[in-house]
Amino acid sequence: MGVFASTDDPVSTGHEQIVFCQDKQSGLKAIIGIYSTALGPALGGTRFYPYASEDAALADVLDLSRGMAYKNALAGLDLGGGKAVIWGDPEQIKSEALLRAYGRFVESLAGRYYTACDVGTYVADMDIVARETRYVTGRSVEHGGAGDSSILTAWGVFQGMRAAVEHVWGTPSLRGRRVGVAGLGKVGKYLTAHLLEDGAEVVATDVNPKALEWVRTNHPQVTLVDDAAALVAADIDVYAPCALGGALNDETVPALRAKVVTGAANNQLAHPGIEKLLADRGILYAPDYVVNAGGVIQVADEIEGFNFDRAKLRATRIYDTTREILHLADSEGVPPAVAADRLAERRMAEVGRLRTIHLR
Ligand SMILES: NC(=O)c1ccc[n+]([C@@H]2O[C@H](COP(=O)([O-])OP(=O)(O)OC[C@H]3O[C@@H](n4cnc5c(N)ncnc54)[C@H](O)[C@@H]3O)[C@@H](O)[C@H]2O)c1
Repeated sequence: MGVFASTDDPVSTGHEQIVFCQDKQSGLKAIIGIYSTALGPALGGTRFYPYASEDAALADVLDLSRGMAYKNALAGLDLGGGKAVIWGDPEQIKSEALLRAYGRFVESLAGRYYTACDVGTYVADMDIVARETRYVTGRSVEHGGAGDSSILTAWGVFQGMRAAVEHVWGTPSLRGRRVGVAGLGKVGKYLTAHLLEDGAEVVATDVNPKALEWVRTNHPQVTLVDDAAALVAADIDVYAPCALGGALNDETVPALRAKVVTGAANNQLAHPGIEKLLADRGILYAPDYVVNAGGVIQVADEIEGFNFDRAKLRATRIYDTTREILHLADSEGVPPAVAADRLAERRMAEVGRLRTIHLR
């Protein structure tokens, strides 16, 4: 495994530590990226993915670990940002030995990095990793874990949406608003229920017939449209991307009729510059990593011994954080995505600095 062969030089990206891990017998090749521990141990999941190259795996872990530092800072957690990638096809190579070998590398960092689930890793995998390390969260309920994170993710997205709607129309209520939900999966379903309860009209779509059937049965008042393109073009006030990344792109943004975008999907902006396109069209975008932090708030809470009410209270504060970001964006004349980054950097600098006060 070549080390630091990438053009994404970790020194220039500002990461604290990048750890390359290999166990030839089990086939483990992993990279753990710690972007910042200014606020506490770095927390972020393990992505298990068949990257095309080591460079691609490294680029992803550098990007994702940095993103986690910002997300955790804005979620108000006393946790820094990190992430790990395991390079390989989980269908082919995932085994007890590989996961436990990975757990031993996590343990070797002595608490500088806490891992959790991400794409390609599941609660059951974290239970195996935990046989070798204390520094793992996102575990099964039988092992003190918090279970399904989509419940609090949806709650947090709803809180972020309340703040965004208030910013545009003066009241945090969704009553009478038409909200388009793209993706009726784990998060989209819970979000739909919160919206209906608050008096919103929901228009939705999904590519999975089972998800559509679920909505027809449980929420017959929801209007279903053919696809995401139809939803974007529909007469909606708020657009909630809750499926895959890249929902906001050069095709969708010019066609979008909604005035607010707030959804659960990660990486909604297809490329840099889309946030400006949104602003130019007068569309308020509540940054994805701010509003979808309910899941990380949940796994972080598990580190202390999971308490649902405490975690829900923290996820409810996404309303206040989103409000603050939108006000900052207005006062500094920048898009909300830029304001969010500034607020995260401010917290990392101001709170992180306190560690320079010597205790003993
Ligand atoms: N689950 C969490 O706790 C959590 C936390 C943070 C962020 N997210 C992000 O939120 C999004 C949704 O997560 P989830 O857990 O609900 O996933 P999920 O897989 O349960 O649901 C996604 C849904 O989107 C549908 N879908 C896929 N492509 C579509 C398309 N082109 N048009 C319409 N629907 C489409 C799928 O059929 C599925 O029902 C993802 O981007 C995820 O990364 C989830």
